[in-house]
Amino acid sequence: MEQRFERLSLEQRRSLIKELSDEAQNPMADNPVFASLARTLRRHLVSQPDEIGSQVEDSLSMRLTAKPMSQGHLVQFLNRAFQHRALTNEMPGYEYPIDYSKDEVWELFFDFIAANPDIVWDLNEDLVVREVQTNKSDRYKTFKLVAQMYEKRLGRTPRVLDVGCSLNLGLKQLANSEFFPFKPVELKQNGEIEETSTRQLNTMLMARFAIGKSTGIDIINPITDRDWVRSCSFYPKELLVPRAVMEFDDLIARIDPKISFERFDFTDEVKFEDFKNKIGDTKYDMVTFSTIWYLLSARGRFKMLERAKTVLSDGGIIVGNDFMYMRSSSRDGMAIHENIKGKPYRTVVIDPSSENQKAQEIFVWESGRPTVAVLGTGDVTLDKKSVSVAEAIKLTADHLNQDS
Ligand SMILES: C[S@@+](CC[C@H](N)C(=O)[O-])C[C@H]1O[C@@H](n2cnc3c(N)ncnc32)[C@H](O)[C@@H]1O
Repeated sequence: MEQRFERLSLEQRRSLIKELSDEAQNPMADNPVFASLARTLRRHLVSQPDEIGSQVEDSLSMRLTAKPMSQGHLVQFLNRAFQHRALTNEMPGYEYPIDYSKDEVWELFFDFIAANPDIVWDLNEDLVVREVQTNKSDRYKTFKLVAQMYEKRLGRTPRVLDVGCSLNLGLKQLANSEFFPFKPVELKQNGEIEETSTRQLNTMLMARFAIGKSTGIDIINPITDRDWVRSCSFYPKELLVPRAVMEFDDLIARIDPKISFERFDFTDEVKFEDFKNKIGDTKYDMVTFSTIWYLLSARGRFKMLERAKTVLSDGGIIVGNDFMYMRSSSRDGMAIHENIKGKPYRTVVIDPSSENQKAQEIFVWESGRPTVAVLGTGDVTLDKKSVSVAEAIKLTADHLNQDS
């Protein structure tokens, strides 16, 4: 027993066990597969040391020493790591996720892993070195909507630099939304669907749209990390929707000559200078950050924003989606939730050419799968004049109706 307490600190261990209890009762995406995994894992961590319980503790302790992660985030990460193993190392006679909402099946799977040193090694590697690398391309609808609102400033075919692009599926969907349509949205006001702005936003989502030469940046290796990204991108329930999985694979296979990928860490000063030398005079009309800030410290985020400003065209904007809330006392007007589970997901614009340099709230989505939103309270600066988000949407939809 004593030996185990040396692995994770007592506080880390207590808090992990508490998070696993919460997950068992209130699992991510209401999923019984994750609830059952949390229950089983918790049992293995609190009872006598066994192969899997010890392995998870060892790996997490190593990982947290090298790269801290919040406890709330840690459980979501564990879900992804076990899902990765269950999808990659099929247990004979059982199918993931169909059979995995029972604790007995996870117990059997733990025994199955423990009997295979190669699988234990792979699990350890995931837990120690990986990040959550979800790639949900439907989130990039938010960038289409914002680009349309700011069309006068960004032009009809904005060039986009997407930082933290994962497999670059978001830019591919943004560039080809007539073949890979974004899911429709619903806007709410006081809990009720607001018909007019819902119609206007869906008109915008269905409208033709193109982007100029664009680039995605990530630290990921798009070939060797593909299965990990797939495991991070689907909740167990979503894996049972063949269309969603096929669309993901179709986007991976799609080659778009307008879109390139650069593999580097956006916080690395030397690599960023190399990138700037490579692009020369090229500037981007939008620098986008989709669900990457929640992985960073506030300092890391500020640094990324300063860098992004140096590659923006005149009048260009930074657009972000994340599990943040608005905080006027923060340098950029935002702060990230400590535990993102069940928290709203926001779309914001940072506009370096406007008087107000802080993030402007555009949409507040119910979740990181953005389909239901309320309008944000931020300002949209067009023609040197600021308008509300509702007004910007109305102007954009009217303009699109005149065009068609
Ligand atoms: C949660 S994923 C989101 C992926 C995609 N933007 C989306 O919304 O579907 C976050 C991505 O940010 C990448 N990332 C994290 N830190 C980074 C950094 N310093 N430089 C470049 N990419 C980074 C991760 O590798 C990961 O692929």
